[in-house]
Amino acid sequence: VKDWNGIDQIVLRNPHGASARVSLHGGQVISWRNDRGEELLFTSSKANGKAPKPMQGGIPICFPQFGSCGSLEQHGFARKKIWIVDQDPPSLPANDSNRKSFIDLLLKPSEEDLKFWPHSFELRLRVCLGMDGNLTLISRVRNIDGKPFSFSFAYHSYLSVSDISEVRIEGLETMDYFDNLCHKERFTEQGDAITFESEFDRVYLSSPNCVAVLDHERKRTYVLRKEGLPDVVVWNPWDKKSKAMADLGDDEYRQMICVDGAVIEKPISLKPGEEWKGRLEIVVVPSSFCSED
Ligand code: BG6
Repeated sequence: VKDWNGIDQIVLRNPHGASARVSLHGGQVISWRNDRGEELLFTSSKANGKAPKPMQGGIPICFPQFGSCGSLEQHGFARKKIWIVDQDPPSLPANDSNRKSFIDLLLKPSEEDLKFWPHSFELRLRVCLGMDGNLTLISRVRNIDGKPFSFSFAYHSYLSVSDISEVRIEGLETMDYFDNLCHKERFTEQGDAITFESEFDRVYLSSPNCVAVLDHERKRTYVLRKEGLPDVVVWNPWDKKSKAMADLGDDEYRQMICVDGAVIEKPISLKPGEEWKGRLEIVVVPSSFCSED
C-alpha cells in the first residue's frame, strides 16, 4: 500500500481480523485495529503527514533525542526519515508461542544526518502483531561507529480514548517525575491514579514495567509492558495548546492520550559494536490488570 506521498506502508494481519499498519515514513505504526475493526491508536483528522513531517498520531519513534532539550530538532530525526524493509530479517524465537505476523524496518544515518549527529548507527524496528491481537515493538540500536555515543528514545504512543475525562492511568503512583511544564523540576506523584483535567506533560522516572490506561466509558484498558524503557511520558496538550497546533483539531485532545515507553533521564551509551534493545508490548483488555508484576 502507498500513502499520499507515494511512500510504502505495510499492513500486518492476524487470522482473527486484527491489523496493524506501519509506514516507512518514520517507521511509524499509523493504525492498529482489534478483531472487531476498532481503531486503537489516535490519529488526528488534521494530520496531513506530508513528508518529511511525521503524522500527528500513531506511534512515532523518537530517536536519538526525546523532546527539545538537545542539539537536534524536537524528538530527533528518525520519525521524519524513510526507513527500509529488511527483506531477510532474523527469525522469531522458536519458543514464541503467540505466533506473530511481523516486519523489520531499518534506519541508517544519511550523509545529512551525520552532519547533525555524527554517529554511525543501525536502528532495527520490529513490529509484531500477535495471534491475540497484541502489538509489540522491538527496537535495537547498534553502534557501528568507531567511538561511543549516547541517545534517548521513546515510543510516542497516541492511544485512542473515548474522552480524556474518562481516563485513568495506574502503575505510576508514588513515582518521581519531571514536569515538562515546570522546567524539568522533579516531583513525586501522590495520588492513587492519574486523571486529567488540564494540560499534562510529565516524564515518570524509573517506573514499573507495566502501566495500565483505563478508559471507563469504552470499558477498555491498554496494558503497556516494557523492557529496556525505564521512563514513561504522559502527555495531553489540552485545549489551549491544541488550538496552537496546526495538525490537531481544536477538540481532538479529548480523544487521545500519549503514554510513551521511553529512555530519557539516563541516556543509553553504546560503545562501538554494542547494541541496546527496547521493547514495548501493548495489550488491550476489558478491565485493569498488571497482575503479573
Ligand atoms: C510529548 C512531550 O511527548 O510530545 C511534549 O512530552 C511535546 O512536551 C509533545 O509537546 C509533542 O508531540 P508531537 O507528536 O506533536 O511532536
